[in-house]
Amino acid sequence: MATTTPTTRRAFRRTDDYTPGTPKVKLVEEKLSALGLTSVLIKVHAISLNYRDANIAHGGNPWPVLPNGILCNDAAGEVVAAGEKVKRFAIGDRVAPIIDTQFISGRELGRSWLAADEDGVMADYVIFDEEVLVKLPSYLDCISAATIPCAGVTAWSALKGMSIGQTVLIQGTGGVSVFALKLARAAGLRVILTSSSDEKLQRMKEKYSNPPLLTVNYAKRPDWHEEVLQLTDGVGVDIVVENGGTPSLVQSMKCTRRGGIVSQVGYLGKQDPKDLAELVPVIIDRRVVLRGINGGSRYDTEDFCAALSATRIQLDDLIDSVFPFEKAEEAIEYLWQGRQVGKLVLRL
Ligand SMILES: NC(=O)c1ccc[n+]([C@@H]2O[C@H](COP(=O)([O-])OP(=O)(O)OC[C@H]3O[C@@H](n4cnc5c(N)ncnc54)[C@H](OP(=O)(O)O)[C@@H]3O)[C@@H](O)[C@H]2O)c1
Repeated sequence: MATTTPTTRRAFRRTDDYTPGTPKVKLVEEKLSALGLTSVLIKVHAISLNYRDANIAHGGNPWPVLPNGILCNDAAGEVVAAGEKVKRFAIGDRVAPIIDTQFISGRELGRSWLAADEDGVMADYVIFDEEVLVKLPSYLDCISAATIPCAGVTAWSALKGMSIGQTVLIQGTGGVSVFALKLARAAGLRVILTSSSDEKLQRMKEKYSNPPLLTVNYAKRPDWHEEVLQLTDGVGVDIVVENGGTPSLVQSMKCTRRGGIVSQVGYLGKQDPKDLAELVPVIIDRRVVLRGINGGSRYDTEDFCAALSATRIQLDDLIDSVFPFEKAEEAIEYLWQGRQVGKLVLRL
């Protein structure tokens, strides 16, 4: 190992104090663990936040999390040291860890989510086994590339099977949604975007004006599925990127074409099983395929990076704001208040 290899790192650990108004993370200096034979030390250049991070920081995650763990599962960085047996990466490579370190090919039985079952990446240095890393597309800077592993790969998985000319319903204007919008546009799909805010919809219409973006305000129109049906001449959409969970799932199915796909990605609404009373009749009647999305495997992430490299889709317009690493607390609060359209990134 080079003599300049750091032995400590700065990391934001959760306070686990869920009282409103109190800090949710604390900056600590801690010892870096020794580098294993097949592990890699990464100098982190950018960290991207997801709704999940704000939710975990506020104690709302539906799955268990490590006490005082490190938040975030999206980062882009550079290999600065590698164990003796590392084969897949060299010093200087730009890499990102995958978000579930036991989801490599898709055949694994276990699960280990970053920022939940194990520490996340909100730190200036991280160490991972080479098996859980992917090489990032060389045409993207680290700020853009940091959005790939979670939001990007989730949008990629949610749209799998789409083909040119189909219609997709994308719910909300958060990170996964704007990524899905961008991928859908690149793949020649017609997009119907929903939001609770006319102002956000207007901004998106201006940004994606050709062909015109179809939009629905789901807060103003509780029967928004009817409007989606009208926009598709009564047929329904081919794919839904479903973000609400129980309060919106049945409505999403009602505006999916017979035999279409609903990709269940999010759980942003208040989850209540009573909302699902009509699920079985509707799923049978409309022959809907309900598909659970859980990020993606390392292989999915590599496929997605290959698709990005081939199409050279620019991702910088997905970024709502870039905060300095030291302002992590502010970024979490901004996200928690839902002020973003797209992604928030911390720069190191
Ligand atoms: N399954 C997976 O693999 C996976 C991966 C990543 C994220 N997720 C989940 O996917 C969801 C979105 O994540 P994100 O990081 O994109 O979140 P985000 O950036 O915080 O975006 C949230 C946006 O969704 C919209 N929204 C809020 N409540 C909604 C509701 N009840 N129905 C429809 N839209 C609603 C709002 O947009 P408007 O203000 O425009 O209304 C809000 O700004 C979260 O539940 C997250 O936990 C799942």
